[in-house]
Amino acid sequence: MRRFLRWPHRRLPGMRAVVTGASSGLGRALAWQLAQRGVHVLATARRADRLANLEDEWQAAGGGRGSLQCLPGDQTDAAFRSTLLEAATDRLGGLDLLVLAAGSGAVGPFEASSPETLRRVMEIDFFAPAELARLCLPALRDGRDPAIVFVGSIIGRHPLPMHLDYAAAKSALTAMAGSLRMELAADEIDVMLATLGPLASEFWESLIDGNRAAWSRGRAMPATRAARRIVRGVIRRRVEVIPGLQAKGYVLASRLFPRLFDRCVMRRAGLRRPFVRFRASPRHRGTPSSK
Ligand SMILES: NC(=O)c1ccc[n+]([C@@H]2O[C@H](COP(=O)([O-])OP(=O)(O)OC[C@H]3O[C@@H](n4cnc5c(N)ncnc54)[C@H](OP(=O)(O)O)[C@@H]3O)[C@@H](O)[C@H]2O)c1
Repeated sequence: MRRFLRWPHRRLPGMRAVVTGASSGLGRALAWQLAQRGVHVLATARRADRLANLEDEWQAAGGGRGSLQCLPGDQTDAAFRSTLLEAATDRLGGLDLLVLAAGSGAVGPFEASSPETLRRVMEIDFFAPAELARLCLPALRDGRDPAIVFVGSIIGRHPLPMHLDYAAAKSALTAMAGSLRMELAADEIDVMLATLGPLASEFWESLIDGNRAAWSRGRAMPATRAARRIVRGVIRRRVEVIPGLQAKGYVLASRLFPRLFDRCVMRRAGLRRPFVRFRASPRHRGTPSSK
């Protein structure tokens, strides 16, 4: 019943938000745009100098209706996650919006990768946002019109070869967002998933392992434009936003024609499967005759 009484659109001015991954790309654009729209933002990432620049730029621009403060730290560190929540409570007086934009990836064949790379990618892209969301739930429950935004990827909706670690982490995050959305509906905490295609950011220059393959390059969307779509999604209480036609096309085509989609991807990646298999399987190879 209380749900019917909520405003159809979320009113951002005065909300209190934590934004992760705010030292560059999407997270930075989200922190800036939310603050411009009157949100009191606590922005975080590891690089303190980048965050200090963000604060300086915000002050130099004359600020806006909201505010922008920063706290550097590594989101994979459980102690830092607690410090972040304490800082949000102390400095902002509570928490209404949690935007989980930090992420990193790895590229390369599975066999040549390492257990450390797989674990690191899972830590950054899945465990850290999942645990930060869990930690923030009591504060969000006390917040005004609360919401959590998970930042996923089209690769989490349908994987690409040579992106196994990242695809696994983002697909786990996608599943988690869907599950949590239903679980938290009774608490009136909205959960939104942003499923992104290629962005113009530092993402591919700061991979944990490997380099971006030429075949996987798509037309990159400016991070500021993707951020605008996400902010609009938060306002309109969307369950999922997929910014850009390219990302929408990827998700739709991979869902409607999964085998054809895989074939096209494999062709682009130079991974061919023989059309007819001539090699007999060990079971049918026959045993030496025992005349
Ligand atoms: N770029 C793309 O093509 C693309 C496509 C689909 C989805 N995405 C997703 O979009 C999100 C934003 O990526 P982006 O394109 O804006 O990339 P980006 O410019 O590289 O930004 C990634 C942010 O995450 C932060 N970060 C990484 N590891 C961290 C850690 N351990 N602790 C705290 N912060 C950490 C980085 O800051 P520090 O290094 O300072 O910590 C940086 O601020 C990510 O979740 C990414 O997976 C990106």
